[in-house]
Amino acid sequence: MIDAANARNPWDFYQDLIASDAHPGPLDIRQASTLDLGLAAIDRTLYTSPNVHLLEVVKVWQRVWQFACREEEIAETGDIHVYEISDLSILVVRSADNEIKAFYNSCTHRGTKLCSDNTHLKQIRCPFHGFSWKLDGSLDHVPARWDFPQLTEQSHHLQEIKVGRWGGFVFINPDPDAIPLEEYLEDLPAHMDACGFEDMYIAGYYRKVLTSNWKASIETFLEAFHVTETHPQTVSFADDVHTQYDVFPERRHTSRFLQPVGVPSAALETAPTQQQIVDRMFELTVRPPMPAPPIPEEMSARAFMVAGLRGQMAAQGQDASAMSDAELIDAIQYSLFPNMVLFRSIGFPVVYRFRPDRNDPDSSLFDMLILKSIPAGQPRPYPAEPVEMGDMRYADVPELAEWLRDIYDQDVANLGLQQQGLKAGRTPITFSHYQEIRLRHFHQTLHSYLEQP
Ligand code: FES
Ligand SMILES: [Fe+2]
Repeated sequence: MIDAANARNPWDFYQDLIASDAHPGPLDIRQASTLDLGLAAIDRTLYTSPNVHLLEVVKVWQRVWQFACREEEIAETGDIHVYEISDLSILVVRSADNEIKAFYNSCTHRGTKLCSDNTHLKQIRCPFHGFSWKLDGSLDHVPARWDFPQLTEQSHHLQEIKVGRWGGFVFINPDPDAIPLEEYLEDLPAHMDACGFEDMYIAGYYRKVLTSNWKASIETFLEAFHVTETHPQTVSFADDVHTQYDVFPERRHTSRFLQPVGVPSAALETAPTQQQIVDRMFELTVRPPMPAPPIPEEMSARAFMVAGLRGQMAAQGQDASAMSDAELIDAIQYSLFPNMVLFRSIGFPVVYRFRPDRNDPDSSLFDMLILKSIPAGQPRPYPAEPVEMGDMRYADVPELAEWLRDIYDQDVANLGLQQQGLKAGRTPITFSHYQEIRLRHFHQTLHSYLEQP
């Protein structure tokens, strides 16, 4: 068990580990970046108060860039995606071949909602009196035009919202004065462009209603501190204790962690042998099941597993020579304020999005998108539609590797308990200085938005 007094910094451990890898990785991975964000406590009513929720709608959700859909969900001109968050409803429209526009989903006559579901249209038409618009939002038809002398093309154009695109993700921002998406994304594109998200499609899409505030929901995925207690099945081959957490100077929307895999958790009383680590990884991750081969003496479990992954990729015709060992095996995960989580790990192209569930501070929507590369030389497959999970467990999600499925069910169980407990007690919430720094960073950014005039 790690002795706190003698513990090495997690980032030193992680940096030493990847320095000893055969392929140590690009510069940004070979660096750690932490800040002293203080130790302030967090008011627990932030997670439970309906008033805080209403404030967040105005100060956060109407001001931030947020992931609305993937480009392949609106692949054809006339495809429309209805993106909703709280009471905001936004039409994301493929208005021309390479053009995407977004509008408030609200008639400029008397306000009626224009589209209830994702759809494909030649023109957008209000179901009430029949005002209609072209796909670019310009007025197409006004019934009894003679009776609206006050109306102009400009005054009754659909109310447009900013759109940004990166990596096949379509973002919207209701704030007309918003900074450009490119600026908002900070270093995310530079760090993640090798992932090739734009050449992927949605292979699995799962939506779960969580009985927790959206902030608690995302926070549970921003730290590995809970792993020993909550996901003990992983500790023999993944090191939660020596996970590196990065927040960057002058960067308020993005943060990341890098969790080493192929090494055991420093929280274990007795460290497993290198062979035992590989045995356990085989047992959990290799399907159909097969016993692990004996690993060569002097070879680490991590190096052995990385070599195996490289061999697998080569057999599938994929060139992994430019990839570092860390990108192949570790859990490298980024977040984009306020509600998006992306993995840089090659084998785990999964994206999370968290949203409040209507106006209920005790409930949130968790969207999990499982991306896959478009097979070489083939057209982009149709994206999977979201599966509303209801009571379905992650244990029954076929696109997830078997060993990962339990992890989500374990997290969901915690979240329900956390929300109940948040309402039961009165003490402020405590974040650790290092391992929960991404949560503190998230809250400081949230606070800066809530404080905006
Ligand atoms: S409310 Fe939409 S046409 Fe009248
Ligand atoms: Fe977890």
